[in-house]
Amino acid sequence: MLDKENIPAHVAIIMDGNGRWARERGFARSEGHREGVKRAEEIIEEADAIGVKFLTFFAFSTENWKRSRIEVAVLMRLLDIFLKRNLSRLMKHNMRLRVIGRKEPIPDFLWKHLVSAQSKTKNNTGLTVILAFNYGARQEIVDAAKKIAKEIMAKKARAEDINEESFNSFLYTSGIPDPDMLIRTSGEVRISNFLLWQLSYSELYFPKVCWPDFKRENFQEAILEYQKRARRFGAA
Ligand code: FPP
Repeated sequence: MLDKENIPAHVAIIMDGNGRWARERGFARSEGHREGVKRAEEIIEEADAIGVKFLTFFAFSTENWKRSRIEVAVLMRLLDIFLKRNLSRLMKHNMRLRVIGRKEPIPDFLWKHLVSAQSKTKNNTGLTVILAFNYGARQEIVDAAKKIAKEIMAKKARAEDINEESFNSFLYTSGIPDPDMLIRTSGEVRISNFLLWQLSYSELYFPKVCWPDFKRENFQEAILEYQKRARRFGAA
């Protein structure tokens, strides 16, 4: 049984293992991604039911452009399908969508759909679903440093006033609390340039199952595991 008083407010997920899942079944990699979208939809429902407030998915990294042209196209298309299929569901369940990442070189049509879904859902007050798309944590930190440098040059900020809190407000995740928990499926034990600043004190969890096999029960198990951890934030 889950302790309702100790639900992580923010869970971030690296949906890894789609390719391996497909290969093991003799399918094309795209089938793994397609099944992966279904799992994302299932986990959104479950997170909402449990009372999670922020749910972040690493859907496409800045490094993923190195994959084959076909796989990149499939991932772009799947995001588009996800948006089309889920916009009315997000509205019905009072959920907000937010995108973090760089615009370039995401195709214009897709960026428009992302921005539009974000704007249509912005006044909803329930679960916030955050899609990290064309996202890289080092790039995010560099972008924040550039914005701060510009503010200082324009005399809108002073270097001596920059602290962790103000730095936070220059990140793509401005206004979003740090993840309490990171889940990475498929048994890989790496952060892979995901939310490097924000994961400083997160509980890390690495289940062995590949993402297309990560069902509601696996998410509940992850939350149970979280509830066993004693979080100290550096204190004794
Ligand atoms: C990692 O598995 C997965 C990805 C790089 C993409 C994840 C994207 C989706 C599931 C589709 C978009 C999602 C949403 C929510 C719109 P991998 O391909 O690296 O697997 P492998 O390591 O086994 O090859």
